[in-house]
Amino acid sequence: MNRVTVRASAKVNLRLSVGPPRADGYHDVVNVLHAVSLFDEVTATPAAELRIVLDGGYPGQIPTGADNLAARAARALAAHTGTDPGVTLRIRKRIPVAGGMAGGSADAAAALVACDALWGTGLARADLLGLAGGLGSDVPFALLGGTAVGHGRGDRLTPVPTHVRLPWVFGLADGGLSTPAVYTEYDRLRADAPPPSADDELSRALACGDPGVVGKLLANDLQDAALGLRPDLARTLDVGRRAGALGALVSGSGPTCAFLAESAEHADRLHAALTASGRCRAVVRADGPAPGATIV
Ligand code: C5P
Repeated sequence: MNRVTVRASAKVNLRLSVGPPRADGYHDVVNVLHAVSLFDEVTATPAAELRIVLDGGYPGQIPTGADNLAARAARALAAHTGTDPGVTLRIRKRIPVAGGMAGGSADAAAALVACDALWGTGLARADLLGLAGGLGSDVPFALLGGTAVGHGRGDRLTPVPTHVRLPWVFGLADGGLSTPAVYTEYDRLRADAPPPSADDELSRALACGDPGVVGKLLANDLQDAALGLRPDLARTLDVGRRAGALGALVSGSGPTCAFLAESAEHADRLHAALTASGRCRAVVRADGPAPGATIV
C-alpha cells in the first residue's frame, strides 16, 4: 500500500461531570462523548522521514514538528511495532483548532489507523486503543466514534447505544481556549467539587431516541470555567436558546458552542440566527452520532 487516507470525527460532550484534581494533575470525569459529522482527514504516504503537511488553513496555530499529535501517534505506533517511522502525514483540517471538539485527537487517531494500514502492522483494536490513551484522553474516543461514556481521565470507554440522529449546529469562536487553563479555572471556581457522577436518564434518552429529553439533559461542568475566561460566549449561547435550541452548551473546554436542533429545518433556522447575530467566526452544521477513525 502506498497511500492511505483516514477520516476522523469531531466530538461534542453531551454530559461532562468533572471531579477534583488528582495527584497527577488530571481530573476524574464521567464524560458522555458523541461523535459528529465534522471531519479531519489524514493521508499517509511513504517517506524517508516523518513529516507533517497541513492543508486547510490554520497557519501558525498547529505545530508541524515533532509535537504535532499526529506525528506523536506515528512515532508511538512505530516504537510499539519496531517499524521505521518514515511517513508523510498530510492533514486536511476541518475541525476547529483548540475549539473543544478534539480536532488534535481526531488527527492522532486518524494517523494511528493510517500508519497501521500503510506499514501493514495490523495492530489489534485493543492495542490501538492502548496507544491512543497514551497520546491523550480523547484519542481513544476518536478511534471508536459513535456515543460512549468515558471514565477515569475520560479514556476508559463504554459504548452507549444511541437510537436517534441528532442535528447539531456549532458556533465557532475567534481564537481558542487552552484545555489545561479551563481545568485550572474549574479548580478555582469549584474547590468543593464532588466526585464525578453518571446520568442514567441521558443514556435512556439516547436509547429511546428522544432529542427533546437529550437536549434538557445536556450539561458541562467546564462551562462556567470556559465562560469565566470567555464571557462573550454567554451571549452566543443566548442567541441559540432564543432561536429554540433543544439544548445549548459549550463544547468540552470551549470556545465552540453547540446547539441541538429539533430537525434539519430547525437546524437551518438556528444556523441563520447564529450567523445573523455576528457573534461567531463561522457557523457549521453536523449530525451525530458519526463513525470513529475510518479508512476512506
Ligand atoms: O489528555 P490530554 O493531553 O488531552 O489533556 C490535556 C490537559 O487537560 C491535561 O494536561 C490536563 O491539564 C487537562 N485534563 C484534565 N483531566 C482530564 C483530561 C484533561 O485535567 N480528565
